Amino acid sequence: MKDLSSRTKKWLLIGLPLLVIGSVFLFMQYERTSTTHYCGTTCHIMKAPYETSFHSVHRETNGVGCKDCHIPHDNILEQIIYKGYSGARDYYKNTFAQPDVLLTKEWSKKILQRNCIRCHSTVVARINTSDGKQCFDCHRGEPHDTRPQTFSTQTVYTPIR
Ligand code: HEC
Ligand code: HEC
Ligand code: HEC
Repeated sequence: MKDLSSRTKKWLLIGLPLLVIGSVFLFMQYERTSTTHYCGTTCHIMKAPYETSFHSVHRETNGVGCKDCHIPHDNILEQIIYKGYSGARDYYKNTFAQPDVLLTKEWSKKILQRNCIRCHSTVVARINTSDGKQCFDCHRGEPHDTRPQTFSTQTVYTPIR
């Protein structure tokens, strides 16, 4: 019994600091991969959205980064899952299958819509959004231009539906 508890103590002594260091490391990585600079410059395919956002009121110097629109902010669990999913997907596409068109998926649209409303709730309080119309159906140019964008040898644009 004495033996076991001393072994347990040993594990705790090694394990706890490791756990703390590991968590801090993971948290720092999470933060690092959430910056607009990281999201916009790590992958070629993000060049166009990154550059167009400079010309928008929705730019980092106005306090609005990529993650403020593209990552959920009302559900921490969904935030972690979505970040992992979309990060892995973007990474895969960028490395193995660079697309001509970056299509916005349904999940992504839902998140975008919720984020528009999150920040602009006072302005849009009287807008009826129950018909499924999205903010960005009308506000097409925010924050990415609607014109075709070029990078490398391909044309990339965020499609107008
Ligand atoms: C103001 C909110 C907002 C900000 C900030 C923003 N975006 Fe977007 N983004 C949108 C909207 C809206 C669309 C288009 C939705 C549609 O066409 O249906 C979009 C589309 C995209 C797409 C197309 C595919 C997809 O995943 O939806 C990419 C890629 C993208 N943005 C990357 C970025 C990057 C990188 C940044 C930071 C430099 C950024 N965005 C900042 C709102 C935003
Ligand atoms: C993180 C908060 C945030 C999010 C998310 C956000 N906005 Fe904004 N938006 C702002 C700020 C800050 C401004 C600057 C003007 C202001 O003071 O309202 C702005 C300005 C605007 C304007 C005025 C544009 C202009 O040229 O003056 C429109 C339209 C707009 N947003 C629509 C949207 C739409 C559509 C979405 C979702 C795709 C969205 N916003 C998401 C914070 C946000
Ligand atoms: C049916 C089209 C339509 C829809 C849907 C729509 N808007 Fe607008 N919105 C407009 C028009 C038109 C204006 C006024 C003209 C302008 O300033 O661009 C406006 C104005 C605004 C402004 C003020 C812009 C400024 O210059 O001060 C904001 C912010 C905004 N909308 C956000 C949103 C958000 C968030 C949503 C989603 C809940 C939304 N809008 C849905 C058409 C729409």
